[in-house]
Amino acid sequence: MTTLCGHRLLIVEDEPLLRITMADALRKEGWAVDVAEDGVKGTALFEQHMHDLVLTDLVMPRMGGLDLLKRIKAVAPDTTVIIITAHGTVDRAVEAMREGAADFIAKPFSMAQLMVRLRNVCSVRLLREQNVRLQEQLEQRYSFSNIIGKSKAIQEVFELIRLVADSDASVLVLGESGTGKELVASAIHFNSPRRAKPYVRVSCASLPESLIESELFGYEKGAFTGASERRIGRFEAASGGTLFLDEIGELPLTFQVKLLRVLQERQIERLGSNRPIDVDVRIISASLRPLEEEIAAGRFREDLYFRVNTVTIHLPPLRERTEDIPLLANAFLNEFAEERGRRIDGFSDEVLAMFDAHPWPGNVRELRNVIERAVLFCRGPVVTADDLPGSLRGAASSPQRQASRLVVSMQEAVEQAEIEAIQAALAATGGRRAEAAELLGVSRKTLWEKIKHHQIAD
Ligand SMILES: Nc1ncnc2c1ncn2[C@@H]1O[C@H](COP(=O)(O)OP(=O)(O)OP(=O)(O)O)[C@@H](O)[C@H]1O
Ligand SMILES: [Mg+2]
Repeated sequence: MTTLCGHRLLIVEDEPLLRITMADALRKEGWAVDVAEDGVKGTALFEQHMHDLVLTDLVMPRMGGLDLLKRIKAVAPDTTVIIITAHGTVDRAVEAMREGAADFIAKPFSMAQLMVRLRNVCSVRLLREQNVRLQEQLEQRYSFSNIIGKSKAIQEVFELIRLVADSDASVLVLGESGTGKELVASAIHFNSPRRAKPYVRVSCASLPESLIESELFGYEKGAFTGASERRIGRFEAASGGTLFLDEIGELPLTFQVKLLRVLQERQIERLGSNRPIDVDVRIISASLRPLEEEIAAGRFREDLYFRVNTVTIHLPPLRERTEDIPLLANAFLNEFAEERGRRIDGFSDEVLAMFDAHPWPGNVRELRNVIERAVLFCRGPVVTADDLPGSLRGAASSPQRQASRLVVSMQEAVEQAEIEAIQAALAATGGRRAEAAELLGVSRKTLWEKIKHHQIAD
């Protein structure tokens, strides 16, 4: 029993004979026992020792058991308190249970009966503690640095991140849009010895070609028209830390040569200067498409590929790890519901089935957006099919929602046209975004943002 409940026990009882009998019996069982004859002394002893278990009578001079219980629960809600009741105090014992007492035992009782009661209470407590610990272990096992997932694929990603984080190895993260590439890059940095140094992200796809060099390497005053001040680039800004080259496959070939040289020599030169500056950065890159394909098509340099790809981390699309969907959905639900001060308990079975069947072209980002929207729409205790966007719901929706859909149909029509134009341009250019942007007459940055916004798969 001692091993069950810890060691220190407090008896608060005004009848001297009962107090002494109980203390002796419990000491024989191996407990360290303190005794008090009323609530005031009991409180003082408790504050001093924070006992694991308290046995207290209800009716005592100065302060009774109920007040003592409330005081204990206020400072240490996990303490197990057992109430001793005499004839006529059962009502108050019930109240004590409501205040958080674990059990009560009616006088007169034998020491054997007391032991049975204690044993029961202790095993309940032990179970509860084991449960909490299990829950914590589960939460830890299924999440790592904000990345959530229990699928084998994600568990392997956790393992790889742990392995590479300690080293300076260049890591290439591959995966469709919204699979968590950026999350993985930051997880590597924040679990690495460089965590206290800067983590700098560069979106290679949204930088206009003419600005890539000055952004990455910086420039001296007067390097070009408009360079009125010296500016350090992202490489220098990331000094000692990690530089994340997002969408590295979108870098123009001419710049790829320069980047390769920098990575080999570990030195940069600001534009307008030929003084080399040492840079110590760890490189993480990401790409939507496998770079091998880009190499085969002559759009990516093989030598640069080998430089940035000491280790590859593949993030599988969400539809290939459907067991992660409920876990992710619940995590996002808690996050957004809390943000809005709402209480939503979960999802209807129908919704979970729809989640399972949906192909999720926008992967985890799409799921996250769907949940954010559902929290706005949801009025009941759980998210239902009516709270989901049309892309998931298909034709089934309530008449009111259908009516409200007519009101926004203009905007939706424009968006639909935009999506179709982008899809056509991507198809015509074999998925090359720079060319598609040109075809559409928008900047690469705009196209990039639209693709993300509409969750268009390449
Ligand atoms: N396993 C995951 N657990 C929790 N959140 C995730 C997970 N994967 C992705 N997310 C969330 O989904 C969103 C998209 O993730 P992220 O930006 O890392 O994707 P990405 O692969 O970089 O996408 P893109 O290629 O479009 O840039 C973010 O809000 C991110 O926090
Ligand atoms: Mg990203």
